[in-house]
Amino acid sequence: MLWLLLACVEPAPPVDSDTAMEQDSFCTDAPVVRWANFGQGFIKGSCQGCHSSTSADRHNAPEGVTFDTLEQVWAQKDMILLTSTQEPPSMPPNGGVHEDDRMRLAWWLRCAPNGT
Ligand code: HEC
Repeated sequence: MLWLLLACVEPAPPVDSDTAMEQDSFCTDAPVVRWANFGQGFIKGSCQGCHSSTSADRHNAPEGVTFDTLEQVWAQKDMILLTSTQEPPSMPPNGGVHEDDRMRLAWWLRCAPNGT
């Protein structure tokens, strides 16, 4: 229930930010999904097995597509959304991500302020 509360007290997004353009009706009642409460764990559990610079076996994941840090994730958010939140998702290659988590991923990268 915490997210409901946060959603209520969160001020309107600043109009001059990058994110303002990204805001759409999809985000109107979106829960507060951020790196801290979802993203970090999700990327680690579902993506870093192949998309980490320290991975033992990247399964040929391209070198440039590395998600070690929050900054790297946000820099590639469009591709992440495209590969992992559209139907049918292409990442991870073998699937296995619950649709609830794909939804949270979309709320996070589409609705959160850039870099959070
Ligand atoms: C089992 C290994 C593996 C996992 C896990 C994995 N990927 Fe990938 N990823 C790959 C490989 C291999 C490629 C390159 C081939 C391709 O694009 O299909 C790739 C490519 C990509 C690309 C670039 C696509 C393009 O067209 O340039 C993105 C973005 C991406 N992955 C995101 C993700 C995200 C987000 C996750 C977690 C939800 C994830 N991947 C999980 C192996 C993986």
